[in-house]
Amino acid sequence: MDLGRRKFLQSSFFIGFAITTKKGWANRIPTLAVERRDLFLQGVASGDPTANSVILWTRRPPVKDSSAKRLIVEISTTPDFKIIYAGGKAQISADSDWTCRFLAPNLEPSHEYWYRFIDEHGFASRTGRTMTAPADNSDTPVRFTFVSCQCPNEAAMNAYRKMIFEDEARSRDQQLNFVLHLGDFIYEVTWYAEDNPDGNRGRRIRNLYKFPQGRKVSNFHLPVTLEDYRTLYRAYLEDPDLQDARARWPFVCIWDNHEFAWAGYQSQYVAGGGYNAPAQNQKVFANQAWWEFIPAMVQQPGNPTLEQFKAPKVVDTPMETFNDDGLSEEPNNLLAIHSLKIQRVLRWGKNVDLLLTDNWSFRSPDMSTDDFEVPEYPRVSPQIPFEIMNYGRHYNNDNPPDTIRFNGKDLPNPTKNVHAQTYLGSEQRRWFLDQLGASTARWKIWGHGFGTMEVRSDYQNLPGELGSKWPKDVGYAVLDNRFLRDKDIICDFIQDQKITGFCVVGGDRHAFHAGLVSKALPPKKYEPLGVEFIVGSVSQQTLFEVMEVTMKKDHPKRVLYLIDQPDGKVIPSINVTAMHGVNSTLKLKETGDMEQARAVRNPDVAPHLSLLDYGGHGYVLVTATSDQLSGEFVCIPRPLERSDSPDGGPLTYRVIHRTHLWKAGEDPKLEQQVLEGDPRYCI
Ligand SMILES: [Fe+2]
Repeated sequence: MDLGRRKFLQSSFFIGFAITTKKGWANRIPTLAVERRDLFLQGVASGDPTANSVILWTRRPPVKDSSAKRLIVEISTTPDFKIIYAGGKAQISADSDWTCRFLAPNLEPSHEYWYRFIDEHGFASRTGRTMTAPADNSDTPVRFTFVSCQCPNEAAMNAYRKMIFEDEARSRDQQLNFVLHLGDFIYEVTWYAEDNPDGNRGRRIRNLYKFPQGRKVSNFHLPVTLEDYRTLYRAYLEDPDLQDARARWPFVCIWDNHEFAWAGYQSQYVAGGGYNAPAQNQKVFANQAWWEFIPAMVQQPGNPTLEQFKAPKVVDTPMETFNDDGLSEEPNNLLAIHSLKIQRVLRWGKNVDLLLTDNWSFRSPDMSTDDFEVPEYPRVSPQIPFEIMNYGRHYNNDNPPDTIRFNGKDLPNPTKNVHAQTYLGSEQRRWFLDQLGASTARWKIWGHGFGTMEVRSDYQNLPGELGSKWPKDVGYAVLDNRFLRDKDIICDFIQDQKITGFCVVGGDRHAFHAGLVSKALPPKKYEPLGVEFIVGSVSQQTLFEVMEVTMKKDHPKRVLYLIDQPDGKVIPSINVTAMHGVNSTLKLKETGDMEQARAVRNPDVAPHLSLLDYGGHGYVLVTATSDQLSGEFVCIPRPLERSDSPDGGPLTYRVIHRTHLWKAGEDPKLEQQVLEGDPRYCI
């Protein structure tokens, strides 16, 4: 299989966009304007830079008796706008919720630009700063941070404040090129303070917004209409730290689950409280709101104009059957999931190709694992049943067993004739492999919602009473492992094609992970094929926080997740359990000493992991040069309230992971260095 080395990377073709132009604008005297941030409440933003273009964004809604229909954009090479470099005009209207997208072409590579929007009354937005990518033949190092999972309604965006503070202190050539947002930019599920007087699992609810319509389920609310989804973005973008970040760097964004639905798939809405309903209309509304508020080089198939999103007419219709690929061909579902296509490739010189996928629109419905759960051990799945069901009819080279051994019984295999779980879908998977195979960049970086690395522990080795309820015939306890067949196909391709410089950057898990991509772990063959960094959330609750708030102090398995100390502090022993195995955790409980705990580690549990933190928040800074790639993990404390310090508040730790560009046939390796702070329970 020689997919695609000769194929060109898919580039975006933009036509019909409201574009700026140098002709007639260059060297013009800047427009006389008064900055009125109160008329541009969501600030400004830029997105998807290339070597010679970037998309600029703002929103200018009617405010009291001041409304505007036309905006002028000015682009300058200096923040004071003394010299105008380029400019243009655009119309805005209620049809796009007064949001505005400009494609600014004909810019210089690796350049910093400032931009602003001015309405017909001479009222200006705040000034934004943006940066183009290096030229395609450039060796310039590339620097970016990546983030995911933010909710200003229940926390503070201190991570962005720290990111800005640190970047301002760097010399120009060391500053970030862009910010990659891996999704959960918004959380559509919303708890109102009046329904939850004690907050949401210990978090203070700000009540930043109410859905104009909304749907109440249990003690939370879900969006229903387009206006409901727009309400979320409007409110989030009024956050001062998020808004300052969007005004400082171009953002590159993909969505995760919450931009549409808590736990949906395709156009099905699934949420807590047992809510599960077809939602083709909401999928279209979610896509439209994303398109309106996130400036990105994405087009709707069949809509080249892009000043307005064209929402297909759909009817909420149950999806009853799924094809071999787990896709429902119900026509309204297909219209809804194809109403916006966000998978794309962006390039930063010779060093970085950034491949971006949509991990939600094509995913198969979840399998039901009810018969194979071990409720005595929270948050984990028994490995062997989990794997059999995840592969469905493809298990064991398309020879799935009739029954699954579980707790001494042979239970019927419910997925013997069911498609394998997939998140990419076959069409997108093929597209991804084409792009990966065609990439000539040294580092092929996959911006991935949730990453590929497995996290597990050896509960089969638990002694005595602690292990008495873990089934003896199921192998490891899996904390996180997803979509095994997609992973197999991609790993096989990397191996067959001898692809080097493969790097996955992920979010979604609300936990920091650093490690190596591999198809399998011991006792199967462990073969590292790339490096992987997963970022903790900007602000959303971590598993450690949830367990600290919800797990009973006398829960018999508590030690595997949390260790209580005499001073009332709690060690996130779940990291140790998953990095080193259960004996390390028990030794830590006995001695309080990580050195002694590591001395009894089980090296088979996680040979691929270098760092795991189920309690941290923050961001990861990636630097890609011609021969080295690094991921610097910047971890901050739980951001319950906004820091009043200009640096965004304290740092928990800063740990860097480096790899050298490996040759075909060599294994990638990660070196770790603690730069600041104390990550002792995470490494
Ligand atoms: Fe999230």
